[in-house]
Amino acid sequence: MKILLVGASGTLGTAVRAALADRHEVVTASRQGADLPLDMTDPDSVAAMYARLGPVDAVACTAGAVPLRPLAEMSRADLEAGIGHKLLGQVELVRQGAAHVAPGGSFTLITSVLSHDPIPGSTAAALVSGALKAFVVAAAIELRQRINAVSPSVFTTTLAGGTDRFPGARGVAPADVARAYVKSIEGAQTGRVYRVEEPF
Ligand SMILES: NC(=O)c1ccc[n+]([C@@H]2O[C@H](COP(=O)([O-])OP(=O)(O)OC[C@H]3O[C@@H](n4cnc5c(N)ncnc54)[C@H](OP(=O)(O)O)[C@@H]3O)[C@@H](O)[C@H]2O)c1
Repeated sequence: MKILLVGASGTLGTAVRAALADRHEVVTASRQGADLPLDMTDPDSVAAMYARLGPVDAVACTAGAVPLRPLAEMSRADLEAGIGHKLLGQVELVRQGAAHVAPGGSFTLITSVLSHDPIPGSTAAALVSGALKAFVVAAAIELRQRINAVSPSVFTTTLAGGTDRFPGARGVAPADVARAYVKSIEGAQTGRVYRVEEPF
């Protein structure tokens, strides 16, 4: 398959690329150093990227940031930044990508555990992840392609970096999160949210 991977240079993107690269042609896109330049917050940039990419069998996204900030300190700009990046950025990849991805191909989006397992400061991230999960379920009955979301707990690599935001957490390895992308891309399911969560 020819697979577009948005965010391949990141922690998760590196793991997803490694899980796919020996069996598929992986074309990368992001703001810096990728095969194709892309700012997913800009619909014109998304259009230009798809025009250069040509037909593709799958789109996988491992990019999208949301500010972690207490609700009492959350500005309108913080909310718009998170919604514009992780929510609308990924929705735009699907909305425009529907004309470029082969029928029966797939979209795989990134959400997070925070929509059902929140921490202080996660209201914007929870809002965005919940919206993405609802979008995937609804889009699945309209698209000619399959669409799924991957919803991981905090990564082991994030915990190893030293954060006290996730008390008691063991984390999930990026390589295990990447297996959910393989399931979404190479499997047959649609409209699913794959929770990759640590066991207690
Ligand atoms: N880290 C965790 O513990 C954790 C847990 C659950 C879920 N998640 C989610 O997993 C996803 C990936 O996290 P990560 O830690 O792997 O992120 P990361 O290491 O910061 O990597 C982000 C990737 O996204 C690309 N990117 C950033 N802004 C972009 C834009 N506007 N347009 C296109 N590409 C852009 C970056 O490349 P350029 O800089 O070249 O653009 C980079 O390749 C995020 O959505 C995050 O919320 C993370």
